[in-house]
Amino acid sequence: MGRTCIIGAGSSGVTVAKALKEAGQAFDIFEIGSQIGGMWRYGNDNGRSSCYASLHIDTSRPNLGYSDFPIDPKLPDFLSHRQFLEHLEAYAAAHGIPEKVTFNTRVESVVPEEGGYRVTLGSGEVRDYDRVVIATGHLTDTRQPDFPGTFNGESLHSHHYRTADPFIGKRVLVVGIGNSAVDIAVDLCRRAEHVTLSTRRSAWVMPKYLMGVPIDQWSGFLGRRLRLPSPMVRRIMAQLIKLGVGDQRRFGLPRPEHPMYREHATLSQELLPMIGHGYIDVKPNVAELRGDGVAFVDGSEAEYDAVIYATGYEVTFPFLDRWVFDPDLQLGELYRRMVVPAHPGLIHAGLVQPVGPTIPLVEVQGKWIAALASGAMTLPSREGMDAEIRAHRDYQRRVYVDSPRYVLEVDGKLYSGQMKADMASGVAG
Ligand SMILES: Cc1cc2nc3c(=O)[nH]c(=O)nc-3n(C[C@H](O)[C@H](O)[C@H](O)COP(=O)(O)OP(=O)(O)OC[C@H]3O[C@@H](n4cnc5c(N)ncnc54)[C@H](O)[C@@H]3O)c2cc1C
Ligand SMILES: NC(=O)c1ccc[n+]([C@@H]2O[C@H](COP(=O)([O-])OP(=O)(O)OC[C@H]3O[C@@H](n4cnc5c(N)ncnc54)[C@H](OP(=O)(O)O)[C@@H]3O)[C@@H](O)[C@H]2O)c1
Repeated sequence: MGRTCIIGAGSSGVTVAKALKEAGQAFDIFEIGSQIGGMWRYGNDNGRSSCYASLHIDTSRPNLGYSDFPIDPKLPDFLSHRQFLEHLEAYAAAHGIPEKVTFNTRVESVVPEEGGYRVTLGSGEVRDYDRVVIATGHLTDTRQPDFPGTFNGESLHSHHYRTADPFIGKRVLVVGIGNSAVDIAVDLCRRAEHVTLSTRRSAWVMPKYLMGVPIDQWSGFLGRRLRLPSPMVRRIMAQLIKLGVGDQRRFGLPRPEHPMYREHATLSQELLPMIGHGYIDVKPNVAELRGDGVAFVDGSEAEYDAVIYATGYEVTFPFLDRWVFDPDLQLGELYRRMVVPAHPGLIHAGLVQPVGPTIPLVEVQGKWIAALASGAMTLPSREGMDAEIRAHRDYQRRVYVDSPRYVLEVDGKLYSGQMKADMASGVAG
């Protein structure tokens, strides 16, 4: 059923390639860097990885592996970025993917044309495809707050943070309370002179372990083994976490106004103890940058040597004209979080932020895309796609916090079930 172009050889592009190969589908795969791994290759020569030296994955080993390629049980509960990369490399090699990748090659443009898509490579070469899978990642282009005033010290985004070395003995402000912010604050705090974490909305900080068991294994037990629906699982988990962690206000961390089950999980085993040991303090949002210091919205002010903005990412696709796909308007307008309804051969992979791990979820997306490519599954009508998108947007509005950060949020278990049902019936629903 024609040729597919995959853009990107991170964990998403690799698993889509593997699924297409197994379905006997022809494809090319292009990658800017000289090796696979994307975000998980520390110091990747693609210049796009957000990986810092201390990064460990926040999904425990049994829940992270691919369905037919489990992770070596001798590895620890929470893999380091290096260990995950080695696992991904072994998975890719076992399925003959690296030899299929054209490395050091950027896709410069993708233009829909009669009956397919015209892809232009960095070399100037032009190729035509029946469909294009965009697996370029969405955690590279920094989201920068526009606080009034100027700051004289060093400012950087968490995307560029690698180690605590440049901050030894310095006073550092970390803005945000997502997983990057809490990881970086903890990584810095014993070596910096002091660390402040500033948050506008706060978050429920979940430990990585509860009663000695990785927290995602508790939710996996409730959801998969006991087959409880996701909202109930999340409510039970919220109660268990409150029992395990106690009242985070004791640590100066405000209780968010939204319930725990409405937010993207912020996980840290160490943040609260480090606050408790006096290494980190917590402030509300920044009101103004004031030269050598920062004023906060509660009227307090403090001096800093550096500000690290762990404020998340903007999603961009520089190879697509906005008439083809405008990420500012259409990120939430993808059928099954993948297909651009106006150009149904344009398919995103990995453009989700799940409750649960991304990596095995994209494995299911890969199989779904392969079913489409092979003709084993068909898409609904344009009206059917639009109706599914509306239903998903309604669900998101009901369930998650109202912040740009949530436009890609999905419930991993629910979403994976929808894709599997589509494949089983042969008609995407
Ligand atoms: C700090 C951090 C920690 C994370 N931790 C977890 C975690 O614990 N668990 C989890 O499930 N997820 C985690 N994630 C999310 C993670 O990004 C995804 O799980 C996943 O690995 C992303 O893979 P990807 O292939 O979609 O994107 P990437 O890994 O970004 O790969 C995209 C690839 O596309 C290539 N590319 C981009 N543009 C082009 C182009 N125009 N032409 C050719 N090639 C191109 C890039 O060079 C890159 O190699 C984390 C993300 C961050 C930033
Ligand atoms: N160890 C790990 O596994 C790990 C580590 C790092 C990242 N990740 C993953 O990578 C992805 C990106 O995480 P991230 O932490 O980099 O980004 P993120 O999840 O988007 O969090 C961004 C944080 O910055 C805040 N923020 C955004 N704009 C702001 C503004 N203008 N002013 C003040 N605060 C602002 C957000 O607050 P609001 O909530 O109010 O919007 C939020 O607290 C997530 O999926 C995350 O789970 C995983």
